[in-house]
Amino acid sequence: MSDTLILRRPDDWHLHLRDGAVLRAVLPETARHFARAIVMPNLVPPVVTGAQAAAYRDRILAALPEGMTFEPLMTLYLTEDTNPEDVASAAASGLVRAVKLYPAGATTNSASGVADFDRVRGVLERMAGIGLHLCVHGEVTDPEIDIFDREAVFIDRVLDPIRRTTPGLRVVMEHITTSGAADYVRAAPADLAATITTHHLVINRNHILVGGIRPHYYCLPVAKRESHRLALLDAALSGDARFFLGTDSAPHVDANKQSACGCAGCFTATNTLSILAEIFEREGALDRLEGFTSRFGAAFYGMAPNDGTLTLTRGDALRLPEKIETEDGPVTVFDPGFPLHWRVTP
Ligand code: DOR
Ligand code: ZN
Repeated sequence: MSDTLILRRPDDWHLHLRDGAVLRAVLPETARHFARAIVMPNLVPPVVTGAQAAAYRDRILAALPEGMTFEPLMTLYLTEDTNPEDVASAAASGLVRAVKLYPAGATTNSASGVADFDRVRGVLERMAGIGLHLCVHGEVTDPEIDIFDREAVFIDRVLDPIRRTTPGLRVVMEHITTSGAADYVRAAPADLAATITTHHLVINRNHILVGGIRPHYYCLPVAKRESHRLALLDAALSGDARFFLGTDSAPHVDANKQSACGCAGCFTATNTLSILAEIFEREGALDRLEGFTSRFGAAFYGMAPNDGTLTLTRGDALRLPEKIETEDGPVTVFDPGFPLHWRVTP
């Protein structure tokens, strides 16, 4: 087996960068490896208009250290008041690459999300007309639905009706966590794809709950049972171009994770590529890594893959930082629970 792998420079099709001190601290962790990322708009207040997206993009670029290159692909946060014309003009200028649908209350900073899906039909139809992608957080928020069933119910009650009533809309079902979601994507026409996170390929719900509660493994959608993790692994390793990497790397400072009401999110920007190389190697599928990290997502978004490459070299176990320091406090890096051997260099 070769100990060196040349990988076309990857993209992250679902990323949280936040703002201010946390943005400054976490941006280099992504930009070191990834050329581009779809940047989530769930700031406080959320990024709703084209003007807000332009200002956020400027703040991201201002936070990028000298000598690093990175292209933020901006998104708009869909609300029931979103103006279809504002969306269309932000897309036409090339600023905005996708619109993000959060069901109201589904996750971190999603209070302004959508409760009545009929009220966003006009925006969705406009998006279908201009070929602008919809990214969805696929969980219902109905308190009567068990948290482990929320993705499955979302597919039936929300996603499938939206796709049927808005033909031509290109949809990314983000951070899928169930075998049912993977099956749904496989069975759909080519206008539907899914991102898979690094952490959902590594953990199941036992990691969060057995032997004590582990806040750094708590994310949304919450990790499911082992059979679902194996189904996600199968999808990621399959070489099916409808499944690609969106890390959902979601920094929260430790004080907000290690709390009586801890925030959802795993911070994986620092070690994602080393973790993925370890997993793909273990499964004898290193030749499929580049499709998952560097080709399939760009193709679905209609973009060319990146020109540059990274070199991954297998060696002794890596010593990566356990925390990233920010002026607001430390952010814990996701611990996969196994040693990592693939070093990533430009
Ligand atoms: O775990 C998560 N964290 N899931 C999300 O959907 C949001 C994210 C965040 O913003 O922290
Ligand atoms: Zn997210």
